[in-house]
Amino acid sequence: MKIAIAGALCASLFAASMTAQAEVSPEDQIQLRKAGYSFMSWNMGKIKEQVIDESVTYNPDQMLAAANAISAISKSGMGALFGPGTEQNVGDQVTRVKPEMFDNTPDVIKLSGDLTKAADNLVSAAVEGDQSKVRSAFGQVGDTCKACHDKYRQK
Ligand code: HEC
Repeated sequence: MKIAIAGALCASLFAASMTAQAEVSPEDQIQLRKAGYSFMSWNMGKIKEQVIDESVTYNPDQMLAAANAISAISKSGMGALFGPGTEQNVGDQVTRVKPEMFDNTPDVIKLSGDLTKAADNLVSAAVEGDQSKVRSAFGQVGDTCKACHDKYRQK
């Protein structure tokens, strides 16, 4: 990915306090945050298939991999991708964020923290490997996704 590589190059060339984030344009911030959410969603889908639908054979290793991915993304500092100018469509990037999200930072931090906690709990359940515990932890993660979408994502 172009942005990540540019960030890595800057870091090594200037070896100072420059962060990759400072170089991410509003358009790329929107693209990256949507990619982060989509990637979590893909992993949620894998868990759903095995513990809710049971259309795929339960595989504890795959559940742990998916839980770890969701947890890592939830802790990756996605708040940095909601910078100025990203409350509306930019260039090719269409956003569904509600502008209110930018005026309610404490609430957004709380909702993000709820996701992180639920995702940690999902990882613990996946480490244990018990399918019914993974199922219940999965439901709790889903509730935290929905809580934020209900408030801050347009239909
Ligand atoms: C703190 C708020 C918040 C939490 C928590 C959250 N989301 Fe979202 N989500 C958003 C916002 C805001 C958007 C709209 C982003 C945009 O269009 O710029 C979004 C968009 C999405 C999208 C659409 C991405 C696209 O390509 O348009 C998916 C899928 C998604 N979220 C899944 C999830 C899943 C799965 C979880 C939980 C594991 C989750 N989200 C947790 C706020 C949140």
